[in-house]
Amino acid sequence: MTATLITNIGELTTNVERGGDPTGVLRDAAVLIEGSRIVWVGASADAETHLLRRDAAPQTPSREGSDVSRSGSDVHRVDAGVNPSTPGGNPTPGETASVHRDSGYRPHSRGTDAVSREKGGAGTDVIDAGGRAVVPGFVDSHTHLVFGGDRADEFEARMTGTPYAAGGIRRTVAATRAASDEELRARLAGFVAELHGQGTTTFEVKTGYGLSVHDEARLARLAAEVTPEVTFLGAHVVPAEYSERRDEYVDLVVGDMLRACAPHSRWVDVFCERGAFTADESRRILAAGVAHGLLPRVHGNQLGPGDGVRLAVAAGAASVDHCTYLDDDDVAALAGSDTVATLLPGVEFSTRQPYPDARRLIDAGVTVALASDCNPGSSFTSSMPLMIALAVREMGMTPSEAVWAATAGGARALRRDDVGVIAPGRRADLVLLDAPTRVHLAYRPGVPLIDRVFKDGVALV
Ligand code: NIG
Ligand code: FE
Repeated sequence: MTATLITNIGELTTNVERGGDPTGVLRDAAVLIEGSRIVWVGASADAETHLLRRDAAPQTPSREGSDVSRSGSDVHRVDAGVNPSTPGGNPTPGETASVHRDSGYRPHSRGTDAVSREKGGAGTDVIDAGGRAVVPGFVDSHTHLVFGGDRADEFEARMTGTPYAAGGIRRTVAATRAASDEELRARLAGFVAELHGQGTTTFEVKTGYGLSVHDEARLARLAAEVTPEVTFLGAHVVPAEYSERRDEYVDLVVGDMLRACAPHSRWVDVFCERGAFTADESRRILAAGVAHGLLPRVHGNQLGPGDGVRLAVAAGAASVDHCTYLDDDDVAALAGSDTVATLLPGVEFSTRQPYPDARRLIDAGVTVALASDCNPGSSFTSSMPLMIALAVREMGMTPSEAVWAATAGGARALRRDDVGVIAPGRRADLVLLDAPTRVHLAYRPGVPLIDRVFKDGVALV
């Protein structure tokens, strides 16, 4: 089994609560990965001792419960700060197990691959993070990535004063219906590469731009090819052909459409908003989804005050997303529930609405997640680092809270306990930042700080 030790991590965000810090930061840390899982997290100095001991006695089984036995004589050291084209990046004889070096952050030059890797049979790759910060892979719990067309013209109009309206969804529905499976699949693959390149290792994808039985099932199938977190959103808006027959459309959603989509989906969602679906319709749709084995989540309180939040809490939804317009009862309902408030600041950025008040929610004890809502209408960005920067700059979150919300918070919103945390037994999904601290995600907005991305122990970037 492939093993990788990442050592000399200047700042490791584990999200395992430690001394009152929910993000459980460790300094000068190391992480050992075996196969797809994390097997050990500790101090760089201990990793060195551990590997040296193995080097001396390669066949000795491990005495630590969280560790896994492997040959210590086959260690390849790799330097995260060295251009692979220079000889200095290769292991030096006599140095193979000497993995601990100073953890002072060393920026690498842009335009080069930051890390070279030596693969060696059943051996251990050692990556010297050079003092970089490491965070869990981002968990983007809200995207709409299967669609055709483009709505840049709407964005342009908004920037000169035209307000955002949910009706624009129908334009994307027309373009999506006209697109072939191959076109949608190719575009989706492009978005997945975009997500990975920005440090996102777990993501949800919604249907909602098909709005016919055939097209919704097609989108659910395509989404299921790239993620287990597929959400059926037949209740995105009432499509044009049903505009005078909305009851018939809701019947279709809870009937044939749900039956066709449920086998490919884990979640059911509804856009509970003026211009989309009423509270009664939303309740009916969520209940039908639950009866088909799906778990509920809700789009609510995006464009104005409304019933979305209270309805989501009453339905036991994992998450209610947007939460831009909340009254005190909404906040109290969330605080007394297991429903996560997922904030989507890309929407407010792109629609020029006021940002949601994350501070108010956190101070009330609500669990807050951040997600991109990547879609062609209200938020055409897949960048979780941008969400973190906006949350810190515009929504009253500290960098630590924003990073937690974009990782562990997203995992809570998807009811996942295998991601969003760096700890033994969890998936080896993590991101090396080309920065000494995660604070740079907000402090250096727009700068490509994603150095390396591991998903299930495999280096994607
Ligand atoms: O989450 N709120 C509803 N759906 C999307 C917008 C979709 C669109 O405008 O195409 C959202 O913002
Ligand atoms: Fe959305």
